[in-house]
Amino acid sequence: MSYQTILTSIEDAILTIVINRPDKLNALNQVVLAELALIIDDFIADPALKAAIIMGSGEKAFIAGADISEFSGLDTVAGVELARKGQQLFSRIEHAPKPVVAAVNGFALGGGCELAMACHFRVASENAKFGQPEVNLGLLPGYGGTQRLTRLIGKGRALELLLAGTMIDAVTAFNYGLVNRVVPQAMLLPEVKSVLSVINTKAPLAIAACIEAANLADAPGNAGYDNEAENFGKLIATHDAREGIAAFMEKRKAEFTGN
Ligand code: COA
Repeated sequence: MSYQTILTSIEDAILTIVINRPDKLNALNQVVLAELALIIDDFIADPALKAAIIMGSGEKAFIAGADISEFSGLDTVAGVELARKGQQLFSRIEHAPKPVVAAVNGFALGGGCELAMACHFRVASENAKFGQPEVNLGLLPGYGGTQRLTRLIGKGRALELLLAGTMIDAVTAFNYGLVNRVVPQAMLLPEVKSVLSVINTKAPLAIAACIEAANLADAPGNAGYDNEAENFGKLIATHDAREGIAAFMEKRKAEFTGN
């Protein structure tokens, strides 16, 4: 299927999603959000796809934010609705049962930084820049940025970025724990694909359970530990766990089937 604002390709069960509005630094307008929602739903539903990568078109920007031109004239009700819609899509990405990785190939600002943070992890090119500059517009991030940035880098660092609206470079983002690694731009996609090619050899049900439990790390009470124990119990009775354990004992490579 082809889209107006997004390019997709598939290689080795990895779906690459490229936000394709380079003349607007891949800003997230309503069409992008609607198309991304369809793509993510199809990705989750398609058993032939094991992982996804999200990146921006061109060499300058991952995504330079929500499309500011769509903000003019919005009232309170429309503002809440816009934020909720973005939050729901990004939450769907965060809770996808297979890895979604952000390959941050340039500016990741506002909604771009928020989208990258909704992904399961992030790899950046050396020219990447991160920030939540909404305060410059008299706004705050509306697609989960105040929550995810605070969880990922801590309240003090997050509040400095949120309040000053300044950008950090890729090395600072790495030092803050916002990205897992920084590579030359030409190596970005090969690097992410290489990490995913390792993940894609593992048992799919175990992958889904790891994501589910990790997403509960900040939940109140014992929810995360309870989920971990329940999932451990469910997994240990699966064909793939039996295969993985047997393969270890027999000193051979496990062949997982997703059952
Ligand atoms: N929404 C809509 N359009 C955007 C955009 C956004 N978030 N970010 C960039 N663009 C558009 C610019 O308006 C410009 O369009 P034009 O050529 O039709 O005028 C084009 O993308 C290129 O951007 P430009 O600002 O000329 O590039 P630059 O290299 O001078 O600056 C940035 C790059 C990222 C620093 C700058 O574009 C910027 O500050 N963008 C907004 C970031 C932001 O506030 N994001 C949060 C939104 S909530």
